[in-house]
Amino acid sequence: MSDRIYARIAGTGSYLPEKILTNDDLAQFVDTSDEWIQARTGIRQRHVAAEGETTCDLAYQASLRALEAAGVAASELDLIIVGTTTPDLIFPSTACLLQHRLGAEGCPAFDVNAACSGFVYALTVADKFVRSGAAKNVLVVGAETLTRMLDWNDRTTCVLFGDGAGAVVLKPDTETGILSTHLHADGGKKELLWNPVGVSVGFRPEEKNAGVRVLMAGSDVFKHAVKALDSVVDETLEANGLDRHDLDWLIPHQANLRIIDATAKRLEMPMERVIVTVDRHGNTSSGSVPLALDEAVRSGRVQRGQLLLLEAFGGGFTWGSALLRY
Ligand code: COA
Repeated sequence: MSDRIYARIAGTGSYLPEKILTNDDLAQFVDTSDEWIQARTGIRQRHVAAEGETTCDLAYQASLRALEAAGVAASELDLIIVGTTTPDLIFPSTACLLQHRLGAEGCPAFDVNAACSGFVYALTVADKFVRSGAAKNVLVVGAETLTRMLDWNDRTTCVLFGDGAGAVVLKPDTETGILSTHLHADGGKKELLWNPVGVSVGFRPEEKNAGVRVLMAGSDVFKHAVKALDSVVDETLEANGLDRHDLDWLIPHQANLRIIDATAKRLEMPMERVIVTVDRHGNTSSGSVPLALDEAVRSGRVQRGQLLLLEAFGGGFTWGSALLRY
């Protein structure tokens, strides 16, 4: 037995809002078609938060499920980290709102904003806390209501995103758990995928020609995402002295089936060993990886002891990965 402490996923949970918006529904009010969306992205439908339903509401439901699966009471949590780029409020953080809702008062709670890489970033921070012995039971959430900042007249963005949340509870383990995490960012490409308004620059849509909405140069983002993800999966395998064939599952960020395909090819992984939810969820940003993980665990595909590679790419740009034995 080694002295090393690993952070191991003790339980997973997720939540999707009830309302489903299909591609045909979208085609009713924007110039698009089911055929175009499926061919270019693999998306068939997405979930949309109800009026008044917030990121914290989604995070709360996902967290309850993860806590139950882990057999951990909210009062036993040492730390809560929420990856989100669509917080309920400017402040307090969604993590603080969630902490109160769960009845976990006292433990530290904060948000991480790394756009679609939010969960992988949050998981990385949580891993450091557990490995150092600074925290034992940690709740890590990826939760978003991305549809709140879409321009529903812009067919180049509104067809891509959906709402949802996923969560995991980490616990210390002396045998195995998260083996390594790898994070990167490139702020120089910010204008390829961004929402260019905010507190400090001001919420003045007329000046920015934007409003509170996502702007994206789709094909540039596509190319950067594929390249960055190729590089980070190579880096992850190399850091662990592993071969791509050692992996049991790829659990990728769910932005576009063609990007997922490209990473799977790089890893020589057949699609049967890749978790895909983008067809039903769309891109739920920080929610996407933990949603896919929870679905894979609850459907019995991912089993204890298996080797999982998680990866994500998002606005910033940000990207990263986590290799773990489940
Ligand atoms: N429905 C129908 N037509 C559409 C459309 C839609 N929803 N969106 C764009 N089009 C049109 C464009 O106007 C363009 O028409 P034109 O040739 O007459 O000018 C044509 O389809 C091709 O557009 P293009 O942007 O070149 O398509 P693409 O193959 O790059 O696919 C994306 C567009 C957005 C699906 C693709 O670039 C992509 O997925 N990028 C990555 C986005 C992403 O993952 N972002 C999040 C990262 S976390």
